Amino acid sequence: MRALVCNEYGPPEALAIEERPLPEPGPGQLAIEVRAAGVNFPDLLMIAGKYQVKTPPPFVPGAEAAGVVTAVGEGVSRYKPGDRVIAMPLDGAFAEACIAEEHSTVPMPDGFDFVTAAGFAITYFTTAHALVQSAELQPGETLLVLGAAGGVGSAAIDLGKAMGARVIAAASSDTKLAFARELGADDTINYTTDKLNDAVKALTDGNGADVVYDPVGGELAQAALRATAWHGRYLVIGFASGEIPALPANLALLKEASIVGVWWGTWAARDPAGQLDNMRFLAGLLAEGKIRPRVTESYAFDDFEAAFAAISDRRAQGKVVLSF
Ligand SMILES: NC(=O)c1ccc[n+]([C@@H]2O[C@H](COP(=O)([O-])OP(=O)(O)OC[C@H]3O[C@@H](n4cnc5c(N)ncnc54)[C@H](OP(=O)(O)O)[C@@H]3O)[C@@H](O)[C@H]2O)c1
Repeated sequence: MRALVCNEYGPPEALAIEERPLPEPGPGQLAIEVRAAGVNFPDLLMIAGKYQVKTPPPFVPGAEAAGVVTAVGEGVSRYKPGDRVIAMPLDGAFAEACIAEEHSTVPMPDGFDFVTAAGFAITYFTTAHALVQSAELQPGETLLVLGAAGGVGSAAIDLGKAMGARVIAAASSDTKLAFARELGADDTINYTTDKLNDAVKALTDGNGADVVYDPVGGELAQAALRATAWHGRYLVIGFASGEIPALPANLALLKEASIVGVWWGTWAARDPAGQLDNMRFLAGLLAEGKIRPRVTESYAFDDFEAAFAAISDRRAQGKVVLSF
């Protein structure tokens, strides 16, 4: 099979497509013929050796795939060859076939094609955990989303609206904000041209946002924490800006605000029942047409560099996917 291989930590240009033997499933595992694989910001961190979990090279990156089960290992009870699934291995998805644990695989929702399915799991599962368990977002509350046109940001707009929140989308360009409006954002803020904190206050009668969803970090983080309302929840999702912010604790005291860390993958492994509840919740919203995941860019496997560049050049809107 053809696989994208990281032979040493570095930029996407250092990856190479190589021939690898077809992987065999071990106990509790499935072998999957990959039809499409989602590209996520953490993939860039993984291949650069900067992710919080490090896989030593050589390895095949890729953490989410949609495809067809070709074989099951001993003890697998929920899947059989021919089933269409979404798999979330820690790595290995950027290949014509991958191995996934049964417990990190879900059936493909009805009505999904492989490309849409490959871009769904990580962004929506992360966001469901963030908004349901971490923020306890309530209908009628105001949700401020930074990096709102990106992968997790666009999922936060979609899910925030479905949960009954008023969503303020914040991003670096008017083009991205137009996309955020298409996704359902009620209001928008361009944080390249406007001061984030002032703009949020102006849109909320001075109250601030009840929940702030921040996948960007860096210099925006302090302004975003200042923009929380009384008893606001500031969600630490990620640091796409490349800078981990240091936040003054007095800002939390002044609002009785909470700074809440969100690490979906580890939470899901520690609380499989909670993850199952979230999956049922999302499946219900999908069936009712209340959420609509968007893949905006789908690249052929050989064009992997262009797919990674869409993310590293800060251009991506919605999800980027590789298809096989
Ligand atoms: N906590 C978790 O469980 C979890 C799960 C998945 C992802 N994440 C994290 O969430 C973050 C976003 O992931 P994603 O897949 O949504 O990425 P993405 O699609 O690339 O979106 C990231 C957004 O960050 C903003 N940004 C600011 N500076 C940037 C820079 N120098 N390079 C690229 N983007 C920059 C961009 O929005 P503007 O141009 O509008 O500023 C961009 O749309 C990453 O840090 C990732 O590791 C966390």
